[in-house]
Amino acid sequence: MNFAEEQRKYLMQSWSVQGKYEPIPVEKTAGCWIHTEDGRRIFDLRSAHECINLGFNHPKVLQAMREQMEKVIYVTDDFATEPTAQLARTLAEITPGGSDKRTWFAQSGAAAVEAAIKAARFFKYNQMLKNGVKPNSEPHLYPYPYKIISRYRSYHGATSGAMSVSGDPRRWFQEPFGVSGVVFAPDAYCYRCPLGHTYPSCNIDCAEYIDQMIALEGGSNKVAAVIIEPIVGSNGIIPPPPEYLPMLRAICDKWDILLIADETMTGFGRTGKMFAIEHYDVVPDILVIGKSLGVYCPITAVVFNQKVAQSFEENLFGHGQSYSGHALASAAALAGINVLLEEGLIDLARENGEYLGSRLHALAAEHHSIGEVRGLGLFWTIELVKDRSTKEPIRKADEKYAHTMVSKIAEYLLQEKNIYIPADKFGIWIVPPLIVTREEIDFLVDSINDALEFVDAEMD
Ligand SMILES: Cc1ncc(COP(=O)(O)O)c(C=O)c1O
Repeated sequence: MNFAEEQRKYLMQSWSVQGKYEPIPVEKTAGCWIHTEDGRRIFDLRSAHECINLGFNHPKVLQAMREQMEKVIYVTDDFATEPTAQLARTLAEITPGGSDKRTWFAQSGAAAVEAAIKAARFFKYNQMLKNGVKPNSEPHLYPYPYKIISRYRSYHGATSGAMSVSGDPRRWFQEPFGVSGVVFAPDAYCYRCPLGHTYPSCNIDCAEYIDQMIALEGGSNKVAAVIIEPIVGSNGIIPPPPEYLPMLRAICDKWDILLIADETMTGFGRTGKMFAIEHYDVVPDILVIGKSLGVYCPITAVVFNQKVAQSFEENLFGHGQSYSGHALASAAALAGINVLLEEGLIDLARENGEYLGSRLHALAAEHHSIGEVRGLGLFWTIELVKDRSTKEPIRKADEKYAHTMVSKIAEYLLQEKNIYIPADKFGIWIVPPLIVTREEIDFLVDSINDALEFVDAEMD
């Protein structure tokens, strides 16, 4: 049995019917490409679940990992290590807002989101006590502010709490056993405005609606936080209108509730800024980061601003897990941040993103199956529709794991063009490593153009 057969037999593949699992045996990876045992070279157009913004096997990161491995790989946080300390300081400095922050480390985006939600609830509890209010002193204060407002088109991870704040259809697999107190708001999705309005005459009613939701959910006596992906990822790569996030920030301030930004997918240059929220000049109270943070190592982080961090100076941060602050992963993360900055990869992502965007927009003129082209930096999607005038989607929310036109496109691109994209999205996912070249962008867009020929034909 070769190793691919072994993996097929013994590994449980995520989100899949196991009988259909057919892993492709890999020989090595380099840059944007996966080299297979049978001599193929496959472009990874999803950057390994959006984790490898730097491309595979960046020599500077590998070198930093080798050097760190010889010193300390992991000790508990009763001890200090140079890379862990430096990474926490660096994150305090490069994340939006003042540098007086604290970071807690985990190993998955979901675990970081769990910690962010828990900390937001702790914070509100501590705040009540500090203000001399006994949380249970009056019935309307029972138990304490615990509600979290999220949005339908969102994904924050697969564990119970993270899934409970995810509007993504994957939430249905665990209902009704989620955490309580989550309320979903309408999305800032202008192409399919949930309120039926048109930007900009809408006055950003999707944000105003959240203000009303907070009031009706009990205001700051009941609501702890609003959690958002500044640019929605898994559920459609949806940049909000420019006014939306500043309005949401003002609403959170008005009610004195926390804004949690989940940049697990959008951080570290992906959108042409270090963090996507910087496009909107908004500073969150809690920032969740992951995926590309560790480059090749599983490390994620929750960065608390001074206000939130301060509340734990005298109160217990009642959360933790093994491997938190892993020194080897921290060394990889630090090296990755240095590469991003030294090699100007964020500017490159912005410039190449403009080129990619203009080429994708040109495709929309050629193919009637394209509903909308959206994105920023190197974070783009082509949303596909059965009919442009009705905007009937090519894949409905409850068809995520069905065999749809999107999965057919993924199969075509993999078999015919050696390009790997996810098969479960609402359209085509264009999320290359930040080191992608113009020639590679041309190859990708030309291949997508060919795929759209048969999509158009099927839609006729
Ligand atoms: C915005 C966001 N948050 C959280 C997660 C969960 O991350 P992980 O799969 O590392 O648990 C994801 C994963 O796609 C994500 O996109």
